[in-house]
Amino acid sequence: MNYQTLKNILFKLDPESAHSLAEFGMNFAGNFAPFLLNPIASRCVVAEKRLEQEIFGVKFPNPVGIAAGFDKNATMIKALSALGFGYTEYGTMTPKPQSGNKKPRLFRHIEEESLQNAMGFNNEGAKKISERVAKIYPYVTPLGANIGKNKTTSQEDAIKDYEELTKTFSLLCDYLVVNISSPNTPNLRDLQNEKFIKELFSTLVPLTKKPILLKIAPDMSEQNAICLCAAALESGAGGIVATNTSVDYSLVREPQDFGGISGKVLSEKSFKIFDAIAKEFYKQTVLISVGGISDAEEAYKRLKAGASLVQVYTSFIYKGYTICADINRGILELMEKDGFYSIKDVIGAKRK
Ligand code: FNR
Repeated sequence: MNYQTLKNILFKLDPESAHSLAEFGMNFAGNFAPFLLNPIASRCVVAEKRLEQEIFGVKFPNPVGIAAGFDKNATMIKALSALGFGYTEYGTMTPKPQSGNKKPRLFRHIEEESLQNAMGFNNEGAKKISERVAKIYPYVTPLGANIGKNKTTSQEDAIKDYEELTKTFSLLCDYLVVNISSPNTPNLRDLQNEKFIKELFSTLVPLTKKPILLKIAPDMSEQNAICLCAAALESGAGGIVATNTSVDYSLVREPQDFGGISGKVLSEKSFKIFDAIAKEFYKQTVLISVGGISDAEEAYKRLKAGASLVQVYTSFIYKGYTICADINRGILELMEKDGFYSIKDVIGAKRK
């Protein structure tokens, strides 16, 4: 079935039901009927040496990953890999299971190819998810584990949640991401301050050999973003993921007054923060760019600015299951045009 037909069906459902249906199908195919994935993989996996790179000691077959929040419970890793994603960042997981915010909490802004979500870290909790991932890790494509605190955990106890999660997921991923940038857990973004970030990374880094990255919000000044990233990196962070969704509701014409905005309208804002961070930290650490990437040109721009990896979420919903293949094939064409042989030559080309 082509995606336009499937999209017509899925978009008749409310966005969260559509996601649950897609998750059911992907979970079923990946874990109970893997033969169904072969024809998909042969269409979507772009196996090309020029896109490969080694990061965090593991091979990334291509630079395009699925962003956190799509596979919160790590049920779709096999299907996502068959769809050509170079890596999956699963989560956000919290120590205890939680149901998230009340519904409706996910909205489409169709003309703007954007989403607004206030999910609130709905997930099955660290125990169940870690048991699931343990059955497949290490996996053929790298896995990132994105971790967050429970809603009921006080700000004072937040570090304990991140400590517990680091210990649980350390051996079940190739990198960890601490999420203190979701707008949907009350006061979580208040933890985006230098003091907390220093304390957080100084506590977590000695607990694991795996790199721990900081994921930041786009709603701050470039100077503030640089200060926060500097605090994290000085305290041992292994990289930066920029950015999460935005609470700038002027980005869409008919916003809800809660939740975070993602997709095309986020692109410029997200890139601006990423570019400022990359200017400062390119070559010092691993940078992942996410926010409004919907085609090869945008992905290529982020790579040239200094991203070793990029991620997509919202464009997957709007453009469908060939998004990753389309971006990877497009990147190869752009590389040929610019005379780059390897993806490694593209990364940071703008900074040289
Ligand atoms: C997200 N995002 C997200 N990020 C995160 O770190 N943990 C999470 O649990 C979630 N959950 C989530 C749910 C939904 C429905 C959406 C749309 C997004 C943010 C996501 O990872 C990404 O940073 C932003 O969506 C920006 O990228 P795109 O969507 O513009 O490609």
